[in-house]
Amino acid sequence: MHAQPHRVQSRPQSLRPTRTLRRVSTHISAAPGDVAPRMLMPGDPLRAQWIAENFLENARCYCRVRNMLGYTGTYRGERVSVQGSGMGQPSLAIYANELFREYEVAQVVRVGSCGALTNALRIRDVVLAISAATDSSMNRLRFHGLDYAATADFELLRSAYDVAAERGAPTVVGQILSTDSFYSPRPELVDLLVAHGVVAVEMEANALYTLAAQYRRRALAICTVSDHLVTGEETTADEREQTFGQMVEIALESMLAVSLE
Ligand code: HPA
Repeated sequence: MHAQPHRVQSRPQSLRPTRTLRRVSTHISAAPGDVAPRMLMPGDPLRAQWIAENFLENARCYCRVRNMLGYTGTYRGERVSVQGSGMGQPSLAIYANELFREYEVAQVVRVGSCGALTNALRIRDVVLAISAATDSSMNRLRFHGLDYAATADFELLRSAYDVAAERGAPTVVGQILSTDSFYSPRPELVDLLVAHGVVAVEMEANALYTLAAQYRRRALAICTVSDHLVTGEETTADEREQTFGQMVEIALESMLAVSLE
């Protein structure tokens, strides 16, 4: 006996999309114009929501794909977006590529946390990453083994430094490490980088700086020290929220002070 051929039923009229999808990007469900040219980028999408709810006016969610929330609102009358990047450079690179390419985002300030690698840093300090080393193969593949110096945008960095200094926030400008391994299998390699001036470790800045350079846009990573790899100190959840808020204000004020050119 032959099995009945599988029949593909045409969808009833009522379930067909009634309008053309206005979405332009693979991982970001926003229409062109939904995303502002100034963008804050925390790793955690719930931080994006928290920033939208606490710092932006009239914030509207433009992206829920994979729960990687994105919002646009206003800050002191200027349109600003905030988009989660996820953890690590491969994740951030998906969002940064699409934001630069499809939505013409002009400035991205990453607001994140980092681990301190030296006693020159204290827990809760604000680190402005002037440059980011990396152990990532993304960088090696892109540059065929050449050593590219992924660097922050000078105007955003200067502006963030001035805003932080005005507010008396303990701030360090330095080179950080963007690692692919939160749980490093080769911690002795980090020691080598510390001996060459690297002050803190996180997981995203190098890819952000590299993509901003490729698309000729401005980027900066601001990170608060959430844990100290030398002393073993860690911040509490309350401290993290408070220092995170201070960093968000520094990021917003410094973005507004820099032109969109
Ligand atoms: N390693 C990598 N990323 C981090 C750390 C760390 O210790 N702390 C905060 N982000």
